[in-house]
Amino acid sequence: MTNTLTIRRPDDWHVHLRDGAVLKAVTPETARHFARAIVMPNLVPPVVTGDDAAAYRDRIMAAVPEGMSFEPLMTLYLTEDTDPKDVRAAHSAGIVTAAKLYPAGATTNSASGVRDFEKIRPVLETMAEIGMPMCVHGEVTDAEIDIFDREAVFIDRVLDPLRTSIPQLRVIMEHVTTKDAVDYVRSNEERLGATITTHHLIINRNHMLVGGIRPHYYCLPVAKRETHRLALVEAATSGDARFFLGTDSAPHVDAAKETGCGCAGVFSATNTMSCLAYVFEKEGALDKLEAFASLNGPAFYGLPANEETITIEKGPAAAYPDKIASGSGPITLFDPGVELEWRVV
Ligand code: DOR
Ligand code: ZN
Repeated sequence: MTNTLTIRRPDDWHVHLRDGAVLKAVTPETARHFARAIVMPNLVPPVVTGDDAAAYRDRIMAAVPEGMSFEPLMTLYLTEDTDPKDVRAAHSAGIVTAAKLYPAGATTNSASGVRDFEKIRPVLETMAEIGMPMCVHGEVTDAEIDIFDREAVFIDRVLDPLRTSIPQLRVIMEHVTTKDAVDYVRSNEERLGATITTHHLIINRNHMLVGGIRPHYYCLPVAKRETHRLALVEAATSGDARFFLGTDSAPHVDAAKETGCGCAGVFSATNTMSCLAYVFEKEGALDKLEAFASLNGPAFYGLPANEETITIEKGPAAAYPDKIASGSGPITLFDPGVELEWRVV
């Protein structure tokens, strides 16, 4: 039995680092294991221009502890007013890596997102031309669509028509949660990838709702039924280059989660690599963990894989804190509900 695994240092292709006191608290949690991360732009106000992204990047770098190496890959938040010239300039200056499409109202801080997708056509055409990928939160927001169906409906109503009309655009379906999304990604040969989160590989909607409501498992897209979780596990552990890790580690302080109307988001930066090793070992697929966490993402983004390595070892259960402290209050860490025997050493 394998008890030690050495892989190239992983990257996180979807993370929320926030700002201020929370940024300070969570950045080391990501930088400890991950060499790079695609940093989501849904601050209040959002990161919409190249200047915003450069300033945010500086604030992130100031929160990286001495001795840790970490490169934030910045994203722009697409709005109906995004200026294609600014996007082009920020991309060619190396300030931003990708842009994020949030349908208005889909999730946390998405009020400035897009309502009329035709309005962003010029910017998407520019992105297609310069080879800048679009990360997409793939859920419709129409009140009449059941929350558990919103991802599948988005594929048919929005994503597929959009990709057909701008075929050169590289698209990452972020945090896929359904077999429908896995099948859609698989049915496309080129220019379409998907990130999968740590928590969606481990929990289904029962974990969130049976025996009491568990706010720390509430995220968006919301966890679906077990058949969908199994499809995600199969995709992640298959080695298929179109699927890669985006933790969607999304910290909210406990007071914002444990309340009458709690925020969506699971904070998993700290124990993600242990959780993934657990999932991949269970599938007999530890040999595919490197592809999922360290190789497929950079390949999709056209970046080199990291040269450094990390070693993950199996032993007595790893001791993770239940919460990490921040200047704004405690933040509860994702509880996978199992003992984590693998840890990064
Ligand atoms: O659960 C989520 N939390 N999903 C998102 O799409 C946004 C994120 C956040 O920013 O808290
Ligand atoms: Zn996210």
